Amino acid sequence: SALPALLRAAPKAELHIHIEGSLEPELIFRLAQRNGLSLPYASVDALRAAYAFSDLQSFLDIYYAGASVLLQEQDFFDMAWAYLERAAADGVVHAEIFFDPQTHTARGVPMGTLIQGLRRACRRAEAELGLSAVLILCFLRHLSEDEALATLEAALPWRADFIGVGLDSSELGHPPEKFARVFARARALGLHLVAHAGEEGPPAYVWSALDVLKVQRIDHGVRSLEDAALVARLAAERMPLTVCPLSNIKLCVFKSLAEHNLPALLDAGLCALVNSDDPAYFGGYLNDNLEQCFEALPALHGGHAWQLLSNSFEASFVAPERKRRWQ
Ligand code: HPA
Ligand code: ZN
Repeated sequence: SALPALLRAAPKAELHIHIEGSLEPELIFRLAQRNGLSLPYASVDALRAAYAFSDLQSFLDIYYAGASVLLQEQDFFDMAWAYLERAAADGVVHAEIFFDPQTHTARGVPMGTLIQGLRRACRRAEAELGLSAVLILCFLRHLSEDEALATLEAALPWRADFIGVGLDSSELGHPPEKFARVFARARALGLHLVAHAGEEGPPAYVWSALDVLKVQRIDHGVRSLEDAALVARLAAERMPLTVCPLSNIKLCVFKSLAEHNLPALLDAGLCALVNSDDPAYFGGYLNDNLEQCFEALPALHGGHAWQLLSNSFEASFVAPERKRRWQ
């Protein structure tokens, strides 16, 4: 059954969206042309045909290649604005948007260029779409902690333009504790803290994200269900899990949506919410994720729908007064 119109239009928050993962193939080609770059794909369709992933790494390789067309401030603005317009159409009234500065600074793009382009799109969304949008700077976990520390320092002239830090890229072999010092530094700066954990990595990575990094949300976290003591802790602390169902299917974390553990996460009393992760690569934006979950998982009912939307605001970093109005 189609997602009820009420749920499609309902106000919601999106808290797990990588802005580089919203770069649609059409825009990749347009930016390549504008910047005089040639792509190793003959057409938009040829590029999209390459979006067949077997795990997280096979996706990341093509995701970083796609992001290589971003050079000018306007490129970052155009990417973020396209996402924000689509999010607003899905009822998103608040977005906390990940960006990966190291993907761009490694190619010589200045930190200010990328942050200012993203910031301009966020400000325009507030003014023209009634959508509050804020930025979370992510460290690439396949790189060293010293590089993460240098990235944080390089971003400090724009400290007012991001509300927190996160941790993404290749999870296995790069446990959260590798980034203990940079998260402590971010915490001292008053930044919010989140980390990807328990997507491909084991429950132990969720434990160390909590205990060593002291994160306020877990991104993905779906493997937490393998550890009953962890589930009890996550429930007791109302620790949010920003679940990304279509992502999990495309990256083979679950075989099919019908086997996704979203109903079990909710029934365990966890503060789970649905997000799009990298919508240009995984086949859908936020309402597509919700719609396909409710279609594939008969265990999900109206109460779950309400809970997911309520959790999205509870888990957000907006001020408590504003949260209460939405919940
Ligand atoms: N996991 C890790 N890193 C990422 C992801 C993800 O789902 N999307 C973009 N970078
Ligand atoms: Zn992610």
